Amino acid sequence: MAEEIFEKDINALADLIVKSEKILVFSGAGISTESGIPDFRSPGGFWTRFDPEDFTIQKFISDENSRRKHWGAMTEGGLITPDAKPNLAHYAIAELEEMGKLYGIVTQNVDGLHQKAGNSEDLVFQLHGDMSHARCLSCNDRYPMEEVMEWVKQGEDVPDCRSCGGILKPDAVYFGESLPMEVLSESQYRAETCDMCIVLGSSLVVYPAANIPVIASRSKASLVIVNMEPTDMDHMAEFCIKSKAGEVMSRTMEKVREKA
Ligand code: APR
Repeated sequence: MAEEIFEKDINALADLIVKSEKILVFSGAGISTESGIPDFRSPGGFWTRFDPEDFTIQKFISDENSRRKHWGAMTEGGLITPDAKPNLAHYAIAELEEMGKLYGIVTQNVDGLHQKAGNSEDLVFQLHGDMSHARCLSCNDRYPMEEVMEWVKQGEDVPDCRSCGGILKPDAVYFGESLPMEVLSESQYRAETCDMCIVLGSSLVVYPAANIPVIASRSKASLVIVNMEPTDMDHMAEFCIKSKAGEVMSRTMEKVREKA
């Protein structure tokens, strides 16, 4: 029975994609778990191992011990993942761009896997920043994260700016920090003007990011949610597929190619 339902949903998703020309993808950590990166709120997720209270910008800049905890958690906890590889879900979205159907990807992820899968930088809107660089909070100098990780591996457990000795912070957005305004407003604009929005792997509990699929749905775009667990927005979707994003999207794109 489950396979028949799955097949029906995959067909319905493929039909909507064939009909759509301006598809906005909204991705969360669930799209990257199949690349070996833990998500945040599933069993074993990042927030089941570390306390979000410790990960505010206030805590980070307040004392060196908090920064030591942050860097340790980011390296051991799987938030800094330079060697992670895109999975089937990422490649399916890259194919949507090749087909000329992708209006954009609004992602909460900081792993850069959409770009690694081949999506154009100017179509990836990283609402929560990214982990590719660390920036000095005093002089704004930026360092590639690989370089900073080398310093950490050599025992510098709280890396400082090489130019001025200031506090180095990854380019990801911390709780208590505001989101990059131009990225947020462009994401909201695309949500208002897309004709379809596909959510892939997000619990939709963190705002303002979680407003994006709501704006799309209110702007009459068809909304489909692909997430292993139910979300608070499920009632707004045409339908929800509670299966793995990699399998759902690769099977769907096979159907899209047949139908197109
Ligand atoms: N396929 C589909 N869904 C999946 C998969 C998968 N392979 N793996 C996990 N999921 C689902 C989980 O069931 C969960 O509901 O993805 C969702 C991930 O939710 P979260 O862990 O809350 O991640 P996310 O929604 O991206 O969190 C948003 O919270 O802590 C902040 O800044 C952080 O960007 C993050 C934000």
